[in-house]
Amino acid sequence: MKAAHGDIIVCAMTEDDLDEVLAIEQYSFPLPWNRDHFLDELKTDCAFPLVAFTPGEKLAGYICPRLLLDEGHILDVAVHRSFRGRGVGRLLVERVLMECRDGGAEFVSLEVRPSNEIAIALYRQLGFVETGRRRKYYENGEDALLMEYHYDNEEGSDAV
Ligand SMILES: CC(C)(COP(=O)(O)OP(=O)(O)OC[C@H]1O[C@@H](n2cnc3c(N)ncnc32)[C@H](O)[C@@H]1OP(=O)(O)O)[C@@H](O)C(=O)NCCC(=O)NCCS
Repeated sequence: MKAAHGDIIVCAMTEDDLDEVLAIEQYSFPLPWNRDHFLDELKTDCAFPLVAFTPGEKLAGYICPRLLLDEGHILDVAVHRSFRGRGVGRLLVERVLMECRDGGAEFVSLEVRPSNEIAIALYRQLGFVETGRRRKYYENGEDALLMEYHYDNEEGSDAV
C-alpha cells in the first residue's frame, strides 16, 4: 500500500542516515555528493539537512537546505525511487519553506537543470518562480535554472 502523505515523518538528518542517503543520492544524480558533502551539511551552522521516514522507518528521501540571514537555499533534494510520486518531495520542500520562513528568510532559492521537468513542476507547484540562469553550471555544460520562492508572494500560492 502506498504511504499516505500524513504517514511520513520528517526529522533532522544524522550520521546514521548517511548510508541510505548516499544510496539514494547515487541513484538520483549523475555527479552525486559523497559522504563528506553530507558530513559538511551536518556540521555547518546554517545548514539543517532533513530526512523523511515511512511508517516502516525506511528512509524515503532527504533535503539539504541552508538558511543564511534572509536567504534560504536548497542545495540537494532526492526521494528514493520506490517512494517517488507520493508527495514526499513536496513534503520536504514545504517543510524547508516553513522552517526558513520561521527563521526569518525573505526568500528561498535553488538551482535546477532545465531538463529536470519533474523537479521544476514540483517547485512551480509550490510557488517558486524562475529568476535567471547560471551558464554552464553543471558538469555536462548544462545551464542551471535559478528559481526562487518569495514569502511576500505567498498569497495565491498553495504552499505552506
Ligand atoms: C524531484 C523529486 C525530489 C520529486 O519527489 P517526489 O516525491 O517524487 O515528488 P512528489 O510526489 O512530492 O510530487 C510533487 C509534484 O512534483 C511533480 N511530479 C512528481 N512526479 C512527477 C512525474 N513523474 N511527472 C511529472 N511531474 C511530477 C508534480 O508537480 C507533483 O505534484 P502532483 O502530485 O500534484 O502532480 C524526485 O523525483 C527525485 O528524487 N528526483 C531525482 C533527484 C532530483 O532530480 N532532485 C531535484 C534536484 S533540483
